[in-house]
Amino acid sequence: MCGIIGCIGSNTNLISKVIEGLECLEYRGYDSSGIAFIKNHQIQAVKAVGRISDLKQKLNFEIDSSLVIGHTRWATHGKVSLENCHPHFSKENRIALVHNGVIENFKNLRIELQAQGYDFYSETDSEVIANLIDYYSQKYDHLKAVELGCSRLEGSYALAIIFKDDDRLYFAKKDAPLILGKSENFNFIVSDIVAASSFSNEIIAIDDHQYGYLSQDKIAIYQNGKSISKQFVKCKIQNDQRSKGLFDHYMEKEIQEQPSVIRRLINHYVKDDKFSFGPYFLKKLRGANRIYIVACGTSYHAGLVGKYYFETLAKKETEVCIASEFSYHLPLVSERPFFLLISQSGETADLRKALKKIQELKAPVYTMTNVVTSSLAQQADGYLDLMAGPEIAVASTKAYTAQVTLLALLAHALNDDSQTIKEKFQSVIATEEKILSKPNIFKDIVTQKIAFSRSCFYIGRNLDYLLAQEAALKMKEISYIQTEGFAGGELKHGTIALIEKGVPVIALISQDHIEEATRVNIEEVKSRGATVITIARQSVAKKEDDIIIPEHDPLLSPLVFAIVVQYFAYYAALINKRDIDKPRNLAKSVTVE
Ligand code: F6R
Repeated sequence: MCGIIGCIGSNTNLISKVIEGLECLEYRGYDSSGIAFIKNHQIQAVKAVGRISDLKQKLNFEIDSSLVIGHTRWATHGKVSLENCHPHFSKENRIALVHNGVIENFKNLRIELQAQGYDFYSETDSEVIANLIDYYSQKYDHLKAVELGCSRLEGSYALAIIFKDDDRLYFAKKDAPLILGKSENFNFIVSDIVAASSFSNEIIAIDDHQYGYLSQDKIAIYQNGKSISKQFVKCKIQNDQRSKGLFDHYMEKEIQEQPSVIRRLINHYVKDDKFSFGPYFLKKLRGANRIYIVACGTSYHAGLVGKYYFETLAKKETEVCIASEFSYHLPLVSERPFFLLISQSGETADLRKALKKIQELKAPVYTMTNVVTSSLAQQADGYLDLMAGPEIAVASTKAYTAQVTLLALLAHALNDDSQTIKEKFQSVIATEEKILSKPNIFKDIVTQKIAFSRSCFYIGRNLDYLLAQEAALKMKEISYIQTEGFAGGELKHGTIALIEKGVPVIALISQDHIEEATRVNIEEVKSRGATVITIARQSVAKKEDDIIIPEHDPLLSPLVFAIVVQYFAYYAALINKRDIDKPRNLAKSVTVE
């Protein structure tokens, strides 16, 4: 989704810095981009539809500017066009700004401003903000104008604002992430921790309703008209975590990182054969009579596995809710509920809306996230760190296995079962490493049986069905092959009508007690012409199965089988020449509802 950046400093070559920042924001998903900078007390802008490379072609990098803002846009209000592309200007080009978020009352504000003689040239909500601040700047100084302008906005915003006759870079934030940082010759603001870490490891995460400005040598933060002080903190993201290393795609690198993510989680959350979640957190979780997991997409699929673990291992009733549906139909809340939000990014708008509803219920709520500076981590009662390292590919892989691992650890902790936990995970890690060492096996199967089909099915029962849903999502989002994940027993109730000659059906068999039943489903689809690919755990495998997964604790099979289905999706996308890390229409951090 949209990304913003702004740089100010003694370094006059800040256009190239802002472009570097925009390139770091690319992974979030975007359809156009633009920059604005001050030159000779005038604001100039360059915008392009398409990729940052299109913007670079239009830019003259020789231009010196020490105050530059930039934006990657993911269209929400208005089509993809140069007019709608940021930065947006106010009347007479006095102000330019970039905006991440959604302004809900922009139509009313536009009417109000039109009555004051303001004209609008785009369909965006963001242009309204530029003119609103301009309106207040006719009477007040620029800082006050930013404060007053923002006080009129309903919705979410992270803003970077420049005025043509001012050498400060202004900012404001509500319900959208914003990070400040200082680098060697410049200060910056940016909407994304990964992009921030490419400039500096000294950062400040701005909170809602804070605003202020950066100059060459100063950072000033305000709230409710008063100056406040905030300390810089160290950003933990390392350079090598941001690079693709020897891989062609971030997605493959992230698939390969999964054993080390699990190792990191075990080392952090299990110390001397004891769980270290903090007594307060576990006490709250133990005290609950029902757990409510709220999440979207892949995180929701991890939540389904979490429910299975909580209910089978810890006998704790659990409900899993799709965040975007949550506020339309609240679950019946038990006497002692505990809410767990699962979000890789920690910024998902649907979850932020759900969090507001949960907070009205005054129930305990924690966030399980990969970004501990994120809004959801900060606004909940507490957070659990997924420790997966930055996930740059849009399709989530290592965050999913981190979520499933952490949910399994929590369920074991509720059950006070820490004795064999390290061994169980050691064997999962060893199995994963074996699978990861031979990805070409997956490539051959995908080339021969999957990549050139229009549709595809995953089937499984019990835990395998839960993974089948995630496997299908992965396949469709990056290869664009229409894929469904089905409970094996459900096929005959309708969907089997879609099975015809050559349709790939991928059967997952990890559990002993469902082996026979899933094999019956395999025969059903085979006899209707399907091309079946069977992935089975060793002790339930037959020698004719396509992929046999080495032995491990079957309860943790989703962690192991996940790697195979992720690679299936990866190779299907590669063979079809898809943009693997940045699939069409998708964004990494979904900050709109
Ligand atoms: C799919 C994927 C998405 C996200 C979903 C929720 O690969 O990544 O389905 O899981 O958008 O995002 P988070 O976890 O950031 O809340």
